[in-house]
Amino acid sequence: MQMQVGWTDGMSAPIKIVVIGLGWIGRKHATLISSSDQCVLAGVCDVDLSHQSYAEQIGVPFYDNVDELISAVQPDGAVIATPNSHHFSVAQICARRKVDILIEKPIADTLAQSQRIVDVTKEQDVHVVIGHHRRHSPFIQMAKSVVENGELGKLVGAMMLWTLMKPADYFDVNWRTTRPGGGPMLINLIHEIDILRFVCGEIRQVFAHVSSENRNLEVEDSLSISLSFENGALGNIFASDSVPSPWSYEATTRENPHYFYSEENCYQFFGTNGALAVPGMEIWKYTSGSATGWQYPLEKSSLEVSQEDPLHSQLDHFCRVIRGEESSLINAEDGMRTLRTAHAVLESAEKQIPVEITH
Ligand SMILES: NC(=O)c1ccc[n+]([C@@H]2O[C@H](COP(=O)([O-])OP(=O)(O)OC[C@H]3O[C@@H](n4cnc5c(N)ncnc54)[C@H](O)[C@@H]3O)[C@@H](O)[C@H]2O)c1
Repeated sequence: MQMQVGWTDGMSAPIKIVVIGLGWIGRKHATLISSSDQCVLAGVCDVDLSHQSYAEQIGVPFYDNVDELISAVQPDGAVIATPNSHHFSVAQICARRKVDILIEKPIADTLAQSQRIVDVTKEQDVHVVIGHHRRHSPFIQMAKSVVENGELGKLVGAMMLWTLMKPADYFDVNWRTTRPGGGPMLINLIHEIDILRFVCGEIRQVFAHVSSENRNLEVEDSLSISLSFENGALGNIFASDSVPSPWSYEATTRENPHYFYSEENCYQFFGTNGALAVPGMEIWKYTSGSATGWQYPLEKSSLEVSQEDPLHSQLDHFCRVIRGEESSLINAEDGMRTLRTAHAVLESAEKQIPVEITH
């Protein structure tokens, strides 16, 4: 029988959540839900029957069909952790059965499918959270508030590095290496694009170069992206999944213990009054009253940020969204804007032209 953590007499029944898709991230969600005091893991589903033993191991009912799972378990919410190309078909079933959904990022692999997710979830009036969980990171939330409260002055630009070495067995999963859903732009850098939109504002135009020379796959392994924002700021991302390097969100934030940790920064935000490095959260500014110019010293101060697991915070948020206590931090339309921007990067790289983004 399912263990109900933190649910005692007199409290309202905990929210019932199911996980659909039991790959790496689906199992991570299942673990978080199982240990949550906000919800219970009511069932899991995967089309691959080899995952049944995992369900038995964690003591939850297993289904290989989403409809059967929903009929049997009657969940309040579902986490969709299937490959990107299956997000729409699963989201559609959940929405029609009035189940609120947390869809792993990106919302889908094509804009057409993400539009269908927007439409069906609106029609069925279900809540949607897109799993851009880094919006819940204390580092990113702090960066957003520093930029928005004008501490850096007027935002001038942002620079991001996502450079690391993916392990060889990562590429054993076919969808990760083929279009339209695979490749670091749609799987990994979609996080950077979403963070830039969240912290700095809407992106207006992108120009990109991509290379697949290091891994020789159908999808890119390295990217250089130049961006401009609607507010006039400029941005830059350099990314590669085939270089040994300590500069990536994964390596520097310590949010995911699976990754090597380095005490480096991966993002920098620049304003007319100062600069911020993330996740070190160091702000560099002239001392108060000092003259400005490159010959004068800058002072470094550090912001205190407590370490939290953003996937955990995202789950708590999803529970509050299901209970109607909060609106989604990133709904289907917003997730589609991030996807549209990511697609603009790939279009720019393919055609070698700047691409304007209109939402
Ligand atoms: N938030 C993050 O940082 C993060 C990290 C990794 C992956 N993801 C996202 O999570 C999703 C899954 O990624 P992954 O790497 O865990 O994939 P994976 O290929 O390892 O696992 C996906 C699982 O879904 C199952 N599946 C496929 N179609 C299904 C269906 N119709 N119904 C039920 N199960 C189905 C597969 O059998 C597989 O077990 C992707 O959208 C990916 O982009 C997000």
